[in-house]
Amino acid sequence: MLHVISSCYEKYNHLFPEDKFIELDLGCGKGSFTVALAERYPDRHIVGADIMLGRLRKIRNRITNHYPHIENVDLLRATAVELIGFQLPRFSVDRIHILCPDPWPKARHRAKRLLCSEFFGRLANVIKPGGVLHVATDDKPYLAFILEAIKGNKYFDVDETGIDDIRDEGMKTDFERQWEKQGIMTTHLSYRRNDTP
Ligand SMILES: C[S@@+](CC[C@H](N)C(=O)[O-])C[C@H]1O[C@@H](n2cnc3c(N)ncnc32)[C@H](O)[C@@H]1O
Repeated sequence: MLHVISSCYEKYNHLFPEDKFIELDLGCGKGSFTVALAERYPDRHIVGADIMLGRLRKIRNRITNHYPHIENVDLLRATAVELIGFQLPRFSVDRIHILCPDPWPKARHRAKRLLCSEFFGRLANVIKPGGVLHVATDDKPYLAFILEAIKGNKYFDVDETGIDDIRDEGMKTDFERQWEKQGIMTTHLSYRRNDTP
């Protein structure tokens, strides 16, 4: 995957400090949430990942130009399946955020949806026991699909307290704000990784 800060191709192991609380914003888009998280928790290591390199470069430039004090962000150009399924070691991340992922509303595109029972299994492999999975969507059919997909997953328990620290206005994502202006509310779900091996 491409490490956008250094413009080098890297493997995960070289990037994340082992002694830090690690948070991953998967599909970070324009990155307002990633940056807000980094500002709120300067002692944590915040990773923004997206498939679109141009968006990541804009985030990097925004940090350099407007938030030069932020030093705890990594930006990775990677696909979600590459990162979660192959790059990240088992139990390596404390909290993962997947916020407003593409809903793929057309029936013929449904197989492209990121959040499905198979991907929840992969996420369970990467999130530390006791860690949190935070999912949000503005799309009602996708919400129903997500709830159904995670229902049978033995690794995650509903725990709304996992995101109590980030429910405020300042932590809304770019897409969430955009939908809100059109009167569409985003639903946030929080799950705790239990210690099922
Ligand atoms: C609808 S946007 C949401 C962005 C941001 N989370 C927000 O709420 O403002 C979805 C983002 O996921 C990224 N994305 C889509 N498929 C992806 C994949 N397979 N791996 C990584 N990122 C992906 C897109 O490039 C886009 O930036």
